[in-house]
Amino acid sequence: MSNSFSSQRFSIAPMLDWTDQHCRYFHRQLTGDTLLYTEMVTTGAIIHGKVDYLAYSEAEHPVALQLGSSDPAALAQCAKLAEERGYVEVNLNVGCPSDRVQNGRFGACLMAKALLVAECIDAMRQVVSIPVTVKTRIGIDQQDSYKFLTDFVGTVAQRGGCDTFIIHARKAWLSGLSPKENREIPPLDYPRVYQLKSDFPQLTIAINGGVKTLEEAKVHLQHLDGVMMGRESYQNPGLLAQVDRELFGLDAPVADPVAVVRSMYPYIEAELAKGAYLGHVTRHMLGLFQGIRGARQWRRYLSENAHKPGADVSVLEAALALVADKIPQEA
Ligand SMILES: Cc1cc2nc3c(=O)[nH]c(=O)nc-3n(C[C@H](O)[C@H](O)[C@H](O)COP(=O)(O)O)c2cc1C
Repeated sequence: MSNSFSSQRFSIAPMLDWTDQHCRYFHRQLTGDTLLYTEMVTTGAIIHGKVDYLAYSEAEHPVALQLGSSDPAALAQCAKLAEERGYVEVNLNVGCPSDRVQNGRFGACLMAKALLVAECIDAMRQVVSIPVTVKTRIGIDQQDSYKFLTDFVGTVAQRGGCDTFIIHARKAWLSGLSPKENREIPPLDYPRVYQLKSDFPQLTIAINGGVKTLEEAKVHLQHLDGVMMGRESYQNPGLLAQVDRELFGLDAPVADPVAVVRSMYPYIEAELAKGAYLGHVTRHMLGLFQGIRGARQWRRYLSENAHKPGADVSVLEAALALVADKIPQEA
């Protein structure tokens, strides 16, 4: 896969603790063209951290890095590093409402500081040639009018030069709701995002929030440039096997989930050799057989066995045997 690829048409959302390297490697076995986002990484972690927060494997491409910060200089430094490391895009998080993120004065609270966001985007764009994008909400707290959203997007586009926005189609409450509640309680407003696209036709606008099927994604794509799917793609990754064909129009074969599991073995063996536990990888695979007979047994067997010391791919073979009556013989 070329690392010059950059399409917002379909992407998997950045999700802390979920879309780590193992997860992205697994998702890539299911879909070749979907844009994968990292978890949010703070500039502080990248600049001062003891581990390499930019590590990923070539096989994950195309991969975009999501950054969390409101410091233009630090963001520029990290964007440059990201480009050097081969990321296809850098995205700024302007949507997370957690207290920790607010204490750092970034995430969703930055919606109230459009000029600062523009400065951040501009600082990154000055030093990289890969796209620099923004992921945001439709509003925060009482600042939830359509004008507030258009003022924000207009400022960040004009002053910062940002031409791509991913909009989580609900507002965030900055206090009183947990991040989880902030993904569920404020109502979704898809028409507002469609309106944004018609008022800013020159911008690339992707929608996020509550999309559960590829049919729904197709409906959004009639109005917008892209769809970002979060929780459903993680909890029901089997649907990703249809994405290349259904959303990218490729004449690609639909990956067989059993073959996908087995395609993970060389990767898993390499990770185990580096000291990982099987469960570090397989926790992302628990939902693969959703809707298929034996899915619960698969999930349970892996949950009970993959964290045991010494667990290896034979645990996966044993779990596969529980899924379907007729799975192909081991390749
Ligand atoms: C476990 C979890 C972690 C998340 N972490 C991030 C994050 O690091 N950065 C971000 O912009 N959004 C984060 N989100 C929000 C998602 O990117 C997405 O906007 C949200 O889940 C709505 O999309 P969905 O309804 O398709 O899940 C997270 C969501 C979940 C469930």
